[in-house]
Amino acid sequence: MIPFVDLKAQYASVREEVNAAIQGVLDSCQFTLGSEVVAFEKEFAAYSGAQLGIGVNTGTSALHLALLAADIGPGDEVITVPFTFVASVAAIHYTGATPVLVDIDPKTFTMDPQAFEAAITPRTRAVIPVHLYGQMADMDPILAIARKHKLVVIEDACQAHGAEYKGRRAGSLGDMGCFSFYPGKNLGAYGEGGLVTTANEEYARKIRMLRDWGAEKKYQHVLKGFNFRLEGIQGAVLRVKLKYLDKWTEARRVAAGHYNRLLAGVVPTPHAEPHNRHVYHIYAIRTAHRAAWQDSLNARGIQNGIHYPIPVHLLPAYADLGYSQGQFPHSESAANEELSLPMFPELTLAQCEEVAAAIRSLASQDPSVAALRA
Ligand SMILES: Cc1ncc(COP(=O)(O)O)c(C=O)c1O
Repeated sequence: MIPFVDLKAQYASVREEVNAAIQGVLDSCQFTLGSEVVAFEKEFAAYSGAQLGIGVNTGTSALHLALLAADIGPGDEVITVPFTFVASVAAIHYTGATPVLVDIDPKTFTMDPQAFEAAITPRTRAVIPVHLYGQMADMDPILAIARKHKLVVIEDACQAHGAEYKGRRAGSLGDMGCFSFYPGKNLGAYGEGGLVTTANEEYARKIRMLRDWGAEKKYQHVLKGFNFRLEGIQGAVLRVKLKYLDKWTEARRVAAGHYNRLLAGVVPTPHAEPHNRHVYHIYAIRTAHRAAWQDSLNARGIQNGIHYPIPVHLLPAYADLGYSQGQFPHSESAANEELSLPMFPELTLAQCEEVAAAIRSLASQDPSVAALRA
């Protein structure tokens, strides 16, 4: 069996350190926020090339509070992509603003800057480029368009810890960057977690208040806030794991390199722009016969996934946005063809070879691959 991700292997490699860190929180009884969270906020902001970090309970809350910090609400429009995890759009909805969707670039699966510019109206207040699968969106044109129209840029970096665009790290380019520490993420908590990066003291101050009931001091509620605090145990675990993140990212990149080499000319492999440091949260190939390939991989014990089978504009939950089939053709074909192969730092060359051999044998029986390759 080859797992899709192997959280047990990773825990085994840091077990002693993580257990000691958790014990430290148990001893200090700083269960929510506290010194481990404060230290992690500083360390993760520094890692991301950002000035400030504010820990929250999830990546979704990071997006939600980033939008609220920029005073976005009813009557405002926020632009993002439909080919993402639903949370990117849900966070906009939570604020009362209207999500406006634009298609992706079919090569990178990230926001098409021209489509973004075409969707701007007098109501547009912000844009959320999603750094999908660990590759950053094309930030230079996105930032230039946003500056021209005075829009707030909120990076959805939930899949992109340590990813780089022209040498700059995810979370350091926009006005705010939002991260998730869901266990399966490149930097995963042992529970839930999230964080906002920013260089803006005012945004940081508001997010700190909003995550803790909008209080400036205990029981002095200045804003209508939330209970979105990051737990002390998660801060402690994340501090330990952050030390290994670059090593784990390099291991992902090596595994992606094996797949790229073994699958070259066999299936369309991920397109990484040369100016990007892709951190391969997901290793995505494309096939027009995905269901059959999944059956075959499953039968061979090779776990796999789809990220994501239905673009947000076609999800029943967001039917009220009023979009229809055919409106975002690149997002729709990506959703129909994308197949995620096993990807985690501990993946071995032998495992990559086994996965690639299975894909090669499927592709050799599949005439449509030739068309996709072209
Ligand atoms: C692109 C993207 N945005 C937002 C989120 C939301 O993060 P969380 O699950 O921590 O709320 C996730 C991850 O689940 C994600 O992949």
